[in-house]
Amino acid sequence: QKQVFRISTGSANLDKLLGGGVESMSITQVFGESGAGKTQIAHTLCVTAQIPTNGYPGGKVMFIDTEHTFRPERIRHVARRFSLNEKSVLENVLYARAYNSEHQYELLKKFVGGKFHEEVGMFRLLIVDSIISLFRVDFLGRGELVSRQQKLGQMMSLLQKISEEYNVAVLITNQMTSDFRTFPLLNMDENGKPVGGNILAHSSTTRVSLKKVAGNVRIAKMLDSPDQEETEEAFLITTGGIRD
Ligand code: GTP
Ligand code: MG
Repeated sequence: QKQVFRISTGSANLDKLLGGGVESMSITQVFGESGAGKTQIAHTLCVTAQIPTNGYPGGKVMFIDTEHTFRPERIRHVARRFSLNEKSVLENVLYARAYNSEHQYELLKKFVGGKFHEEVGMFRLLIVDSIISLFRVDFLGRGELVSRQQKLGQMMSLLQKISEEYNVAVLITNQMTSDFRTFPLLNMDENGKPVGGNILAHSSTTRVSLKKVAGNVRIAKMLDSPDQEETEEAFLITTGGIRD
């Protein structure tokens, strides 16, 4: 009797590309170069997920931040755009900083099994920004690629389970290989591609790539969508979050 819902991204164009918004009971992956707008989409969704729409009651958000780029101030700006109370909007975003890949996994397990358990039904959106950055630090050498992918696969299964069991929309962000400047010589991923290989690609229901155009204009492209051909839509990054 779980009713699948979609959360608006704040951009009607991007919503259209996604078939109405970010879908519950599934994993949506957004990837693109640095500055493409992945974190801005995540911030906007922290607010839009709280807005009730036809058949969707709205709910709380859990934000797992691996790069320390979560900005409460951005959430406030987006809340203002939608004429919402900034304080209560922020209170409905449960923020957790992950310090390594193991910790990231533990946070997700805690979300379903731990002290949030009674509350978990009130969450409608779970964000992991980014899904892979800590894995790239923790599993550096080529010899560790197999165990990295194995751990990554475990985490994706857990995310899938959470999304289905609790009817939650899961949004993950992913990087491009060229963004990894810290240890370029040890880069284990194929160049110029989203990181994480087949495991990340196949365990995401929906994948959207982002491209920088001019200024604050971005192009989103839907990848291997089963029902439509590859379509593109433009959106803007503004102080009030992303929009058309
Ligand atoms: P990485 O995390 O580095 O991979 O990039 P990302 O894809 O997460 O990029 P992010 O979402 O952080 O987007 C950064 C872009 O958002 C910048 O290039 C700015 O153009 C824009 N931006 C960030 N903060 C603001 C803001 O407060 N107001 C406006 N108008 N734009 C902003
Ligand atoms: Mg980011």
